[in-house]
Amino acid sequence: MKASWIVALTVLGTIVAAAVTALVVLGLGAVNIGADVQPGWIEAELASWSRERTIERRAPKAENPYAGDPSAIAEGMKHYRANCLICHGAPGTPITEIARGLNPPAPALGDANSGPSDAELFWVTKHGIRFTSMPAFGSTHSDEQIWKIVAFLRHLPKLTKAEQKSLRDSLDDEAWKGVVVPHEVRSVEAPPHEETRN
Ligand code: HEC
Repeated sequence: MKASWIVALTVLGTIVAAAVTALVVLGLGAVNIGADVQPGWIEAELASWSRERTIERRAPKAENPYAGDPSAIAEGMKHYRANCLICHGAPGTPITEIARGLNPPAPALGDANSGPSDAELFWVTKHGIRFTSMPAFGSTHSDEQIWKIVAFLRHLPKLTKAEQKSLRDSLDDEAWKGVVVPHEVRSVEAPPHEETRN
């Protein structure tokens, strides 16, 4: 047998063996998919790489037509309160029990210095992220409404005290049971804090 055939068969055999091993491991239920367990390195790296590539490739090449527009921000806040607050939270708002149980966690949104561009925020809000609990809002909200939500996301770090209070008051006490953690800490590992609601 030619050397090139031996190499080709060895490579093929290795790929088949790896695929069979992966199937056996998954089939035995060895990978714990519970949300209260951190994912393994391979799972986390593959999921995050695929997610970033998808968003970079598909986000629209557009600017937010409502960036900085006060009435769009006010409308975006209403959508945010109804659809996002419970998972993503807001400055001055206690982290909810739902948010504390999410894995991956729902990140704090809107920081313009790090994280996604407006177009990327738009794409994720419209299409969601499968297997993560991040819903797709494109079937219930128009593009115009989603851009207004994005305008509000940029306003999140600059919420006035009155806006913070209005968001906080919209959360039922039962949703957070007095546990307050800093807005930036949104993982399942977030430590319990004392009750500081006022
Ligand atoms: C049920 C919980 C839940 C709700 C409700 C929810 N999200 Fe999310 N969202 C998530 C999770 C979890 C992630 C992280 C997904 C990941 O790590 O890939 C996420 C990620 C995002 C991201 C990507 C952030 C980044 O840094 O890449 C954006 C943007 C976003 N959500 C916007 C929204 C908006 C806007 C709403 C409301 C209209 C909303 N989400 C409602 C759970 C939620």
